[in-house]
Amino acid sequence: MSVIAVIGAQWGDEGKGKIVDLLAETAKAVVRFSGGDNAGHTIINPYGEFKLHLVPSGIFHPEAICIIGNGVVINPAALLDEIDNLHKHGIDTSHLFISDRAHLIMPYHILLDRLEEERRGRGALGTTGKGIGPVFADKIARLGIRTCDLLDKEAFQSRLSSVLELKNAILTKIYNSPPLSSKEIYEQYCSYGERLAPFIRDTGSILHQMVSQRETVLLEGAQGTMLDPDFGTYPYVTSSSPLAASSSIGSGISLKQIDQIVGVFKAYTTRVGGGPMPTELKDEMGDFIRERAHEYGATTGRPRRCGWFDAVAGRFSAQINGFSSIALTRLDVLDTFDSVKICTAYELDGGTLDQFPSDLAILDKCQPVYEELPGWQTSISAIRDRKQLPSQALHYIARLEELLSCPIDIISVGAKREQAVIVKQIA
Ligand code: GDP
Ligand code: IMO
Ligand code: MG
Repeated sequence: MSVIAVIGAQWGDEGKGKIVDLLAETAKAVVRFSGGDNAGHTIINPYGEFKLHLVPSGIFHPEAICIIGNGVVINPAALLDEIDNLHKHGIDTSHLFISDRAHLIMPYHILLDRLEEERRGRGALGTTGKGIGPVFADKIARLGIRTCDLLDKEAFQSRLSSVLELKNAILTKIYNSPPLSSKEIYEQYCSYGERLAPFIRDTGSILHQMVSQRETVLLEGAQGTMLDPDFGTYPYVTSSSPLAASSSIGSGISLKQIDQIVGVFKAYTTRVGGGPMPTELKDEMGDFIRERAHEYGATTGRPRRCGWFDAVAGRFSAQINGFSSIALTRLDVLDTFDSVKICTAYELDGGTLDQFPSDLAILDKCQPVYEELPGWQTSISAIRDRKQLPSQALHYIARLEELLSCPIDIISVGAKREQAVIVKQIA
């Protein structure tokens, strides 16, 4: 009976999907509140293996309503594909709802994402190419088109033609690219609108009512804290806030109602796309982790950069989110190592730094200071009881708790739903 936000604590792909699917067993609602189909949340449960980009990871629990909140940006084609794929696997989506306030990704957003990346050349950010930067820029510039606009075709047509006039001027005059046809987009989006109309609702009021009845609501984060536009490694960030604070704005649930904030950390670090990553291992160890853990992006298939756990970034993340619990995932990936390392500080110009710097030029010069702990060299994937974990694994967990000043209440030891050690019930 509480509102629980589940937040990516590193650079994304921490295993949020797995944790939400697990916690959703007792939830009455699961809400995505930020990002778009740049997210890729992998779920392996009795129904099969799924990569969800927009649909909340609670969709496999028919008794939980699933909401794509106002803070999410929606590519209707991607959402319809996802819904069709779920139906193909026999998953019911009649409990899915879409906020009438969510902004839409339009064809020019995807095109501009690509053109902007090309223009950045060697300084490209390595975006997912899903139109995320351009659509959030339009939202803030008051040029956006929302799901509710699809429900009034006349108003939609006039809004689209006025926005497209500006977009076509940018496409043709700045990027030397052909203009897009207003008629084609209009017709395509009207047909999306007809299919999506039954899902579109004032989801904020549905949630308000559920929260006032003290139902359990999960707020499912996308991306990770270090990709936040304010606190991440700017400009190598995404364009909506993945932080706990954004779970209120992106769902319409008051901050006062959020009871618990679960930070999802991987037992090591990965990052996909450009930008600094102090503990990146550019050697055989990094390749070994990538291959052992199949660290390839769920959305783009790109290889993820791998490295040891960065507790400087982790502590920063725990502070700005205010985690009440941690879910530690992929601990089993470290099963075979003789020893495991944790970065506890950065070395900078002969001194040590234990705060995550804002300036990328400084971050570039930082060298990780590692603490080395003994490995456990045994498989933990079948363990469900904390007491059965090897002492070395418990030592590693305890050291992370100490460095992050937060209890680790869930330890995930495999990709499947049931592969978890629940130290303390969260939901
Ligand atoms: P998300 O974006 O945070 O939901 O994470 P992704 O799905 O992009 O990436 C996490 C990957 O780790 C997926 O392939 C999951 O199936 C997998 N995974 C999650 N938890 C565990 C775990 O405890 N052990 C292992 N081996 N894999 C896990
Ligand atoms: P989930 O929810 C990991 C990264 C991209 C790129 C940067 C900006 O699965 O954890 P964007 O397309 O958002 O403009 O790209 O952000 N990125 C992610 N990395 N997991 C994600 O989502 C990501 N979503 C965006 O790789 O570096
Ligand atoms: Mg992912």
